[in-house]
Parts: sequence; C-alpha cells; structure tokens
Amino acid sequence: MDWLRYDNMSTLEVMREEALQGGGEDAVEIQHGKGKLTARERIDLLLDEGSFEEFDILKTGRGGAFGKERRYASDGVVTGHGTIDGREVFIFSQDFTIIGGSLGEAHSQKICKVMDHAVRVGSPIIGLNDSGGARIQEGVDALAAYGEIFNRNVMASGVVPQISCIMGPCAGGAVYSPAITDFTFMVENSAYMFVTGPNVVKTVTHQDISSEDLGGAQVHSEKSGVVHFVFHNDIICMREIRRLISYLPSNNKQKAPLLDLKDPDDRTDPALDYLIPPNPKDSYDMRVLINSILDGAEFMEIQASFARNIICGLGRLGGQTIGLVANQPAVLAGVLDCNASTKAARFVRFCNSFNIPLICLVDVPGFMPGPEQEHGGIIRHGAKLLYAFIEATVPRITVILRKAYGGAYLVMNAKHIGCDINYAWPTAEIAVLGPKGAAEVIYGKEIRSAPDPETLLSQKTEEYRKTYANPFLAAQRGYIDDVIFPRYTRRRLIRGLQFLEGKKADRPDRKHGNIPL
Ligand code: HXC
Repeated sequence: MDWLRYDNMSTLEVMREEALQGGGEDAVEIQHGKGKLTARERIDLLLDEGSFEEFDILKTGRGGAFGKERRYASDGVVTGHGTIDGREVFIFSQDFTIIGGSLGEAHSQKICKVMDHAVRVGSPIIGLNDSGGARIQEGVDALAAYGEIFNRNVMASGVVPQISCIMGPCAGGAVYSPAITDFTFMVENSAYMFVTGPNVVKTVTHQDISSEDLGGAQVHSEKSGVVHFVFHNDIICMREIRRLISYLPSNNKQKAPLLDLKDPDDRTDPALDYLIPPNPKDSYDMRVLINSILDGAEFMEIQASFARNIICGLGRLGGQTIGLVANQPAVLAGVLDCNASTKAARFVRFCNSFNIPLICLVDVPGFMPGPEQEHGGIIRHGAKLLYAFIEATVPRITVILRKAYGGAYLVMNAKHIGCDINYAWPTAEIAVLGPKGAAEVIYGKEIRSAPDPETLLSQKTEEYRKTYANPFLAAQRGYIDDVIFPRYTRRRLIRGLQFLEGKKADRPDRKHGNIPL
C-alpha cells in the first residue's frame, strides 16, 4: 500500500514536470526567438509573486486524427487563479509551444472552468491569447469548443471585467472572444488578429498583404479600433494589465478600490485660467486639463491612437476611479464623428456596468459635417453615444470649457439628458450653432445684399458671440449649475463626486433596451 502511494507521488512529480516543460526546449527556444515569452513566464509577470494556483495541469485532450495521436498534459493552455495587488483574478494563458496553442475540446473546457469560477466568485478574468485557432484535428469539436467560450463571454459581460491580451496569432473565430471582452491589449510586432488571413485574402480578392498590414497592432489601434492598448513587448503588456486592474472593481456589485495618491483634494491650478486661447479658432491640448485635475496626473488612456478627437480613459479624483470622456480640440477641433461616437459610447457603457462615475470635459464644435460621415452613419453612431449617456445611472458630471454647440452639446452629457452636475467655465459658448454659422442663417439676406458682405458677417458673428455664445444664458435657466473659475475645477469635481456617492437612479423594468448598434 505504502509503496503504491509512493509510486503515485513520483508519477505525479513526473507528470507535473512534463507539463511544466510545455512543448519542450526546442519549441520554447523558437518562441523566445520570436520575441515572445512562454505562457507560464507571462503568468509569472502578471500575477503577484507566488500567488498562482493552477487548475487542470494534468488535463489532456482525447488525441486527434491525421496520425497526430499524441496527448499533451495541459493541452496547450495554462489556467488558474492568482492575485494582482492582493486581489483575486482568474487567468488562462495559451501555450503556443504545444500544438500552436490551438483550441480543442479539453483546451476550451479548461478556459470555461476558470471563466465559470470568475463569474461565481466575482473576479476579473484575463485571457492571454497566443493560438493558431481552432485545432484542425478536432474538427467540429473545436468549433463547438469556441462556442462554449463565446457563451461565457456574453454571460460574464457586465458582471466581471474581462480582459484579453493578443500575444501571437489570433485568427478566424478566435478573434471574437477578445472582441466581446471589455479591453483588448496587443503586443507590437509579434501579434496579429484577423477573421481571414493573408492566404484567403489572396485567393478571394487577389490582394497581396502581410499579416502585419492586415491585422497587426498598428492597424487595430489606429484604424479598426479593435484593440484598446498596444505595447512594445510582453513584459510591458503584463505590467499595464496590472495597472488597468488597479482602476477596476472586481465585479458589478462592487465599487473600484480607493487609492490615495496623496494629492490634496483642494489643490488649485491657476494656469488653467489661461488654458483657453483668446482666439476661438485656436486649439489647445485637452490633456493639459486632464493631467492637472486628476490625482497625481495619472491617466490610463483607452484607444489613444483611434479617433483621437475624443479622449477616453481612467483616472482618479479624491482616490476614487473615474471614467473620463473629453473632446480633444487639438485633433479635428474636437468634432464628433462616427468613430469618436462609438469609441466613447462603448467606454461610457463599460463605466456604467462597473459603477465607475463619469466625468465629461466638453469643447465640441458639433458633429462632423459632410457626405462621408452622413453616409457612414453618423446619425446611427452619434445616437449610440446619446443612448449610452442617457442609460448611465452612475454619478455623471460635465464641465463645459469652450464650445458646446447644437446636438453635440446635448450628446456630451448635458443636463437635459440626465447629467447630475453641469459646470461651465466663463469661456464656455453654449448655443444652437457656432457664431459664424448662426450669423449666416439669421442675417443671410442682409449679408448677401450688403456692399461689404465680409465685414457685415464678421460684425454679426461678433454680436452673436457676445449675446449668445457664453455660459450665462444657460446658467440663468439652471441648465448650468455653476460657472466656475477654471483653477478650481479639480476641487469642484471631487466635491461633486462626494455628494453623489449615494446616488440612486431607477430605470424601467425591461429585458434590455435596444441601443442603435
Ligand atoms: C492544429 C496547429 C494549428 C491549428 C498551428 N498548429 N495552428 N495545429 N490546429 N489550428 C500547429 C502546427 O501544425 C505546428 O505543429 C505548431 O502548431 C506550430 O505552428 P507553425 O505553423 O509551425 O508556427 P508558425 O510558423 O509560427 O505559424 C503559426 C500560424 C500557422 C500562422 C498560426 O500555424 C497557421 O496558419 N495555423 C493555422 C491557422 C488557422 O487556419 N486556424 C484555424 C482558423 S479558423 P508542429 O507539430 O509542426 O509543431 C478558426 C475557426 C474558429 O479558428 C471558429 C470559431 C467559431
């Protein structure tokens, strides 16, 4: 009996040791040669030291067709849980050194197990993706296996934060799990994502294109908007996932943890009084304000290279995590277009799902005019942002810095769509149209028949600006709760968040609303 026990223990040692080798020395060397870490090295960097507890290290697949019968312990994915800054997270990390990290039945079952645990205990789930996609030898079982993961992604959405990191190939249906998750990270040069790869593109469209040009990190961070964060290598990516987690609650029943960065709540910044340039046509960088007001000037910007005319990201005010949405006058004058609208709408919905208050900084001349935007569906996309703000029940505060014209004024979290506190700087211009456009409409006939139309237009533009393009009319109506000196913006926001702490907002009972997707 004792000898049997001894045998089992040594067998276990051998089996575990074999599993820890992954695909073996040669495969690991190839992985490192591509500038990529192994699945286990990534986990070690991501989690607090010594906190990883692994599940299913001995689980294997049933073996496959094409004479490839070998079963690998762990089946190409390492799964389990551990902590980040002492808070529990669940994790799966695909091991490309084993059958290319391809996903079959057992591999998927391991991922599903940690996803189920994450939802049950209310902790984030982090997926490190490095996989050749559906395991071809497993046929339809591999497709079914993806379906199981997609189901869980949707059920976990808005319940626990879901974070994906693309650290190698990610092709076919495999891209859809990351696409459903809340945030997708991607590593430069060693990772790519596409529904159909270069070979299929060549066959169907006769176009020659590289993996990088089709679905590399630059493409997805700048053009498609599929990924939210791009970093230079695996090590920085793991560090930044840890940073993101620090801003988030573990689930939708909790608030994000407070973090005291020792930045006084009542800190003022007199330089802000001079941020808005005297000439209304001149731009400035909204990041100056963002850095000035946030605790310790710490800001985690999301989709920083996509739709740069709007800035979205996470920061802290008075120690509390906030979601920030701000027009960026330095890019396309901060106009709202299709991409800016969808980028901000998804972010607003994320924050609302996870009890993160919203701060909106407004300097927006309007929606981008023209056939390209109209034909691209600016009505549909702009409506998403409108819908997302109205739907949001978290504390909501808006500060209007300068331009807030027409529909864009309303969409950017105006009082009329349920914002809790609306402040304006003295430099705010709140009106139906910009001064020039308004003067052209109201005085069109006089201007056209004037001996010097240009001079009359600029006179009328200036008159309109003085009369209507200011914050005082809106303040008289109570649409603006206070016109504040820019230098005090931080402290007014923190005080506002403090009194909104206990906010309760009801919504009608329904299955779900129908956001214009
Ligand atoms: C089985 C796979 C595999 C897969 C890679 N491998 N992908 N095995 N199924 N999908 C194996 C290879 O046979 C090889 O095994 C090892 O992994 C490493 O692969 P290499 O090709 O040597 O690596 P590399 O040159 O880096 O190329 C990586 C790659 C390529 C670009 C990912 O392997 C590739 O194109 N794989 C197929 C991609 C694909 O078409 N996937 C299906 C997508 S459709 P050995 O034994 O030689 O070491 C899909 C549908 C999902 O995913 C639908 C869900 C709804």
